[in-house]
Amino acid sequence: RNLELEQQLQAHEWTAKLYHFLLKNTEYGKSAMDYLKSRGFSEKAIDTFQIGYAPSRWDTLVQFLEKRSFNLDVMEKGGLLSSKQDGSGYVDRFRDRVMFPLHNRSGKVIAFAGRVLGEGQPKYLNSSESKLFSKSRTLYNLHMAKGEIRKSRQFVLFEGYGDVISAWEAGVHNGVATMGTALTESHAAMMRGLADEVIVCYDGDQAGQAAALKSIPILEDAGFQVRIAMLSEGLDPDDFIRKYGAERFHRQILDGAVSSVKFKLIYLRKNHILLEEDGKVAYIKDALEVIAPLSSPTEREIYLKELSAELQVSFESLKQECNEKRQSMQ
Ligand code: CTP
Ligand code: MN
Ligand code: MN
Ligand code: MN
Ligand code: MN
Repeated sequence: RNLELEQQLQAHEWTAKLYHFLLKNTEYGKSAMDYLKSRGFSEKAIDTFQIGYAPSRWDTLVQFLEKRSFNLDVMEKGGLLSSKQDGSGYVDRFRDRVMFPLHNRSGKVIAFAGRVLGEGQPKYLNSSESKLFSKSRTLYNLHMAKGEIRKSRQFVLFEGYGDVISAWEAGVHNGVATMGTALTESHAAMMRGLADEVIVCYDGDQAGQAAALKSIPILEDAGFQVRIAMLSEGLDPDDFIRKYGAERFHRQILDGAVSSVKFKLIYLRKNHILLEEDGKVAYIKDALEVIAPLSSPTEREIYLKELSAELQVSFESLKQECNEKRQSMQ
């Protein structure tokens, strides 16, 4: 047993309770509560996800932890406090932020993400990496979602906290988030024992779609069936649900999730200018890179026919080029 780790876990649990209490029951938390309400977070979501508030003072947590006889060096190592510039002690790491506790798989609080109220940089401040917390091995909400994931053998992968929370309220109880767009092989390996299928539901902006594209080989190499849910207008899942509601999110976004091949083709299409000949040629070349490796001849035919209709290029010539590409791949 590692005593420092136990102390850090204990401190994280109490800190989450403190921040949650301050948000809900004190005057300090009012601006944060107003902010959350204005974004549409329900009382129930705030409780379920134990959302909190870190006041703007420099020593709220320092005092709280000192009073409970925690060793502040250990707390700094655990990511809750920051060292003062001159080395003369510690200050709270999180100030004037809405706090989202991050849990490990078994439900213990291991870190926090703090969001500014409104505009400001950084938008989210996370706990530093520590023995307790590694961003590349943590998935937000896994502790609550794992039961449903195991049962359905499927999970939905989001980018952010708000997306998981909104989706949860919309009845999606198998959602987790990577806390940004960097999905790692460790994330994929962690999930492989629980599920066979994943719906990647990243933000509809360019960064989100590019990250969805990058996630495909990581997930497929781990053995997952991958589908991609696509959001338009640069909305993220949270925005979409608040704008169009739960029913449409299920029907249009989740049920409408496309195969990874289809997604790649749509992505390529969006990133080529098809009005000009060389744009078309470049698009076809890239599309064939996606289609040619498919082992099923019917699958290749379906995509080639779509491409043919879309670009008004004969199916025969596409097929010929595709076959040449296949031969060169051997
Ligand atoms: N993120 C982060 N640090 C940042 C920005 C983002 O850790 N400075 C992570 C957070 O986990 C965030 C996710 O990346 O939830 C997705 O980023 P983004 O889409 O920019 O944020 P949203 O979750 O949509 O945040 P909000 O709706 O609160 O603006
Ligand atoms: Mn984003
Ligand atoms: Mn987002
Ligand atoms: Mn958002
Ligand atoms: Mn459903």
